[in-house]
Amino acid sequence: MADQEHNIVLLGAPGAGKGTQAKMLSNELGVPHISTGDILRDAVARGTELGEQARGYMDRGELVPDELVIAIARERLQQPDCANGFVLDGFPRTVAQAEALDDVMDDLGREPLTVINLKVDEDEIIRRLSGRRLCRGCDGIYHVDEPGVETGAECPNPDCEGELYQRSDDQPEAIRERLEVYRKQTQPLIDYYGERDLLVNVSGEGDVEEIAERVLEAARGEVA
Ligand code: AP5
Repeated sequence: MADQEHNIVLLGAPGAGKGTQAKMLSNELGVPHISTGDILRDAVARGTELGEQARGYMDRGELVPDELVIAIARERLQQPDCANGFVLDGFPRTVAQAEALDDVMDDLGREPLTVINLKVDEDEIIRRLSGRRLCRGCDGIYHVDEPGVETGAECPNPDCEGELYQRSDDQPEAIRERLEVYRKQTQPLIDYYGERDLLVNVSGEGDVEEIAERVLEAARGEVA
């Protein structure tokens, strides 16, 4: 008999900690972490046609058109490593994307989604995004509040010598735009999944490890 499927969607505002938690949850559950933002940033960095199409939208903090992102997600979810589930981070973020995901799940005969909504206050979101630094080597996610973390510094991960950088959309104007886009286009998904009884709200504030425990409980259906 196949293992239980873990078909997880992490929902939340930019900076809510989706990437941080998705990495940990995917390790715990043994299913892939799929971040549409990471896939798009990789395409931009490699200068592919997809990257050229996506770059402007991303730098401005706008959403990349649905048809591009839906095609990426559909293709990725059909890969064999998703057979026992996945942790989706940053997809869906419009109602059209959520409907497309429902279609993919139906086509593949998959079990229902568990949608975990990470809730974080807006002042904290702005603090997190403006101080975020990433590693070019291991993709680690850090914050300037941590010792030694600043643009151009070496990655704090002892197994990595990568350079830390700031994302181009973590500038104040793009952060404002991303939050506005989130309110208008992604927040309606809270109702979409709430009405289908698939939504679990989890506080995304506090210690990363404590949040990870709450997220894991939600993913395993242990939260009312
Ligand atoms: P994407 O990469 O998905 O970015 P996002 O949703 O804006 O989310 P972030 O990656 O900024 O934040 P996060 O919630 O992952 O937080 P993190 O863990 O890094 O999308 C980027 C762009 O790509 C979009 O704007 C769009 O253009 C395009 N795109 C992607 N998907 C798309 C889609 N489906 N449709 C259309 N366009 C799409 O944490 C943030 C910071 O907080 C870090 O510094 C971290 O160290 C810190 N932190 C985390 N947890 C805690 C904690 N508990 N306490 C204190 N600090 C914490």
